[in-house]
Amino acid sequence: MKDLLGIHSMGRLDIEGLMADSTSMRTAIEGGHPVTQSLDGVCVANLFFEPSTRTRLSFDLAAQRLGGHVITLHPDASSTAKGESLRDTVLTVAGIGADILVVRHGLEGAPRSIADWTGLPVVNAGDGTNEHPTQALLDAVTLQRRFGATDGLAMAVVGDIAHSRVAGSLLHAMPALGVDLTLVGPEEWLPDDAPAPTTTNLDDLLTEVDVVYLLRVQTERGGVISDDYIARYRLDRERSARLAPNAVIMHAGPINRGVEISDEVAESPRSLIVEQVRNGVPVRMAVLKALAEGRT
Ligand code: CP
Repeated sequence: MKDLLGIHSMGRLDIEGLMADSTSMRTAIEGGHPVTQSLDGVCVANLFFEPSTRTRLSFDLAAQRLGGHVITLHPDASSTAKGESLRDTVLTVAGIGADILVVRHGLEGAPRSIADWTGLPVVNAGDGTNEHPTQALLDAVTLQRRFGATDGLAMAVVGDIAHSRVAGSLLHAMPALGVDLTLVGPEEWLPDDAPAPTTTNLDDLLTEVDVVYLLRVQTERGGVISDDYIARYRLDRERSARLAPNAVIMHAGPINRGVEISDEVAESPRSLIVEQVRNGVPVRMAVLKALAEGRT
């Protein structure tokens, strides 16, 4: 694999290959077995131009577990703050000796541009409202571990679809894996050309789905939290009680407690939120390993 810029360019076999590799990684880690040192001598640069906890830290640990070196750019404390352009910044990082770039940026397409400028393998760790491919991969692994298989599952993706790069990747990954998606949210957040069925009515769907995937309202990209939104879409105890007995709740995080999800639902046995995070490291190990192999 040369880059991971989005799920849109991947087929089912590509996705399942990474999922299988990630499962092997997790088994090795949890069993205390040696992990392949696929990144021996390889330098991974974490370039996060937007805030992150889960993605950045798990890429950091993933690279270290594979024996790689990690360097991290902190834009506010770098020459970006003195006006250095994105292109000059990434060419500098490449000149320092980075071999793989992990990029989060507010502009859609920034990871693609960086791959073109540097010629280095790039992982998109979230670009604007476009895609967040490793999130969708770890979500797929989480579903596979919970249900045994993804084919035939019914998933409602709920909330700020318009501004969500998580939704952007789920929209490609889940249908490729045989999951039936329905997009749920206020009219203004549902795409006109949605590649999946849409509805504004969450309550009508609750009894029919295996997975409720809640999205954070992206206030930094124009999403507005209103009392009406909370009343119609927050997954609280009453709504959760209407779900099928085996149905689960997912969220990429960070969660806005009290907005899209109530405290008690976030911490209920149905919630896979912590399990999603746990799957993030082995998935990112699988991605970095595939990129390292693609360099040779
Ligand atoms: N899910 C996700 O991307 O979280 P972070 O912003 O904390 O990385």
